[in-house]
Amino acid sequence: MSGQMSQSLVKQNLVSGMRPTGKLHIGHYLGVLRNWVQLQNSEKYNCFFFIADWHSLTTKISEETELESNIIEVARDFLACGLDPNKSTIYVQSAIPEIAELHLLLSMITPNNWAERDPTLKDLVRAAANSKKKILVDSVAPSDQNEHKGSLDMAPPVKEAGEVTKTDGEKSNLTYGMLGYPVLQTSDILTFRGYFVPVGKDQEAHLEMSRDIANRFNYLFETDFFPEPKPLFTETPTVKGTDGGKMSKSFNNDIKISATEEETWLQVKKMITDTQRIKRTDPGDTDRCLVPFTYYKIFAEPEVINKTKLECETALRGCMDCKKLLAEVINNYFKEIREKRQLFSDAEILSILEEGNLKAQSKAKETLKKVRELMQIPDWKS
Ligand code: TRP
Repeated sequence: MSGQMSQSLVKQNLVSGMRPTGKLHIGHYLGVLRNWVQLQNSEKYNCFFFIADWHSLTTKISEETELESNIIEVARDFLACGLDPNKSTIYVQSAIPEIAELHLLLSMITPNNWAERDPTLKDLVRAAANSKKKILVDSVAPSDQNEHKGSLDMAPPVKEAGEVTKTDGEKSNLTYGMLGYPVLQTSDILTFRGYFVPVGKDQEAHLEMSRDIANRFNYLFETDFFPEPKPLFTETPTVKGTDGGKMSKSFNNDIKISATEEETWLQVKKMITDTQRIKRTDPGDTDRCLVPFTYYKIFAEPEVINKTKLECETALRGCMDCKKLLAEVINNYFKEIREKRQLFSDAEILSILEEGNLKAQSKAKETLKKVRELMQIPDWKS
């Protein structure tokens, strides 16, 4: 099954993952899920979609039952939005130990300075520092750093970490796991010999590193076993948060895919409009409307968009009424998906994931068998 011929006959593998942050918001839908579903339905690829729960541990040690329920909710959103276990392999990263094994093996051939150059490291450090349960003791305020008290129920600090902290707080909060983030991501992809990887532009540097690692592996072990993974960037409108900033659960400025009509309205109600339109009778300007009109442009039909613009600019419609209509537009847009969400019990979701895990495991085992052979790791019969 190698060589040019089979390449053109066999569908290429496509791999992508998402961290289990809990119920997903409409930004995830527009930026990721909608695209995954289209790729799946194009029937041009062998699709592998997974929940990257190990990756979520790089910045956030989960509290009690949180991780499992977050995984279930993310999977429920996947299914409701149209991912189909009969068309795609849908699984959970932590169910595939081969990914961790490949991560370890690839770490042996990945230069440290490649990992250190990752431009998202700072964001990981910041996110970890802001998480409730601290991963490193030095994540607390500098004045507390020698006393190791407060919420520090984790392991003691790294020896001499304090010295680094004094000059560079961020550096001492950098874990080995954070540095390994893109190596783990590479393992996610290469375990399934992923050729295409649909991701946002923010993942560009990670994908570049995945290609470098794949090439280095192929070079060192004189093989062409691993493909050079190629990003498929999604061109999507970014939905702003209700406050005009980046939409994020942690800013409470998001609208969940799963929100009820009432919850959607409460979020829309908060949106900032044209701040120069003081009185109801003042004509507005949709270009100055900070949030709602940007949503109309994404979710409404063209006639509705035009009518909204006209009625705003002639003061025929007030901002409150406009927001009420917008909530309806959004609720309509997500109506079917929200109904579909109700169809799956937790038990059904878990069993769908278990089936996906099994399919993924058998592929992963094949890959690792070959990798061990190439790296001349003895084949131990257990
Ligand atoms: N790092 C990705 C993100 O934050 C998630 C991810 C983990 C991923 N492993 C992956 C994406 C493998 C694509 C392929 O969005």
